[in-house]
Order: sequence, then C-alpha cells, then structure tokens
Amino acid sequence: MAAPLISPSILSADFARLGEEVRAIDEAGADWIHIDVMDGHFVPNLTIGPGVVKALRQHTAKPFDVHLMISPVDLFLDAFAEAGADVITVHPEAGPHLHRTIQRIKGLGKKAGVSLNPATPAKMLDYVLEDIDLVLVMSVNPGFGGQKFIASQLKKIEAIANRIAKLDLDVRLEVDGGIDAATAPQAIDAGADVLVAGTAAFRGGPDHYAANIQALRGAG
Ligand code: DX5
Ligand code: ZN
Repeated sequence: MAAPLISPSILSADFARLGEEVRAIDEAGADWIHIDVMDGHFVPNLTIGPGVVKALRQHTAKPFDVHLMISPVDLFLDAFAEAGADVITVHPEAGPHLHRTIQRIKGLGKKAGVSLNPATPAKMLDYVLEDIDLVLVMSVNPGFGGQKFIASQLKKIEAIANRIAKLDLDVRLEVDGGIDAATAPQAIDAGADVLVAGTAAFRGGPDHYAANIQALRGAG
C-alpha cells in the first residue's frame, strides 16, 4: 500500500504566526495544508476566511486542502478559489444542491471534495462519487481540534474505499479528526489515503513537526 498523504490542519498552529507555521510544516514534510473554515453557524466555532487563505498562499507551494464548514456554502466558493484553494471540500448539509455545488467547484478549476459528518451515511455519495476528487470522512464532529477519534467511522471508510476500488475511480479518501500515531494505522487499514491531523502534527512546536509527520506516516 502506498504511503498516505499527510495534510496537517493549521487549526492547531499558532495563529499569531500563521505564515511561519505554514512554512515550518511544509519544510517538515507535509504533503498538503489542511485549512478548516468555520462560520459559527454550520459548526459552533469561527476560524478564518478567504483573506487569510490568500495571505498564506505566498508561504508555500503545497496544495491547499480547504475544508469548508460553512452554510450556505455556495456564496463563498469563488472567493476561496481565487484565494488559492486547490481542493475545496463541502458538506452535503451545507447547501440545497450538492451536485450543483460540486459542478461549480469544478467549473472554477478546483478539485471537489465531499465531507461526511459522523452521522451522515456513505449513501449520500451515491450519485456524486463519480463527479468528485475526494471524500473526507469526519472521525469527530466538526468544529474543534483535539477531539477523540470515533471508531465507528472505520466501517464507513472501508465501505467507501471498496466502492472507489470497485468503480476504479480516481478519488482520494481522506480522514479528519482525532488522527494520531495510534489511530492513523487503523484509518489506513480501512482504506484512507490522506490523513488530516491538527493536534498530532503541531504538537510540541516547530522542532517536532518532522518527527510528528513521520510518526503519522507510520515510520516514527
Ligand atoms: C474539525 C476539523 C479538523 C481538526 C482536526 O472540525 O475539521 O480538521 O482540526 O484536529 P485534530 O487532529 O486535533 O482532531
Ligand atoms: Zn478539517
């Protein structure tokens, strides 16, 4: 099995030094940069908007993996695309027309992802899986870093991985929430090929980032 991609979530970075943090995690070996966008409405927390994404763009050439936890989401797709997002991931509950939202993201020239909350069934993907580039399975309820991995999501990852393989699709399967050196192998065994990690990636400060990423890859 190929090594998973690691997408550190800057939600756990030092927000007062975000540019430096993005550079440091890039140099430590991050494959993608995961950016959690929260609106205080779809999820009970507020984070950052397109202006910050745009400002960070000059600090790294790594793909920006933008996870939108905002509703209604359609209003902001153009702004995040222009700000420099590479992958734009939305939740099916964040708008009335998921198919249309996906087409809009692709029309903007970006990769489209769909994220499933812990209680959202894999079935939500039935009529969109062939249109998207990434599925993001939430292994915590979205809103905060540092929560405990919800093990029931492994079955969902497995079901989606089987479906992607059966249909022979070029779709990445990403897992987000409570990923550390102990839960990462479980997610990988279930079929995940991109791991998001906030707490486990940024733990200990910049001197530890390379080792943190190695541990997530399973080489630690
Ligand atoms: C939660 C976010 C996650 C979060 C992960 O809503 O989508 O990306 O930052 O943080 P950890 O790895 O600390 O669970
Ligand atoms: Zn996220």
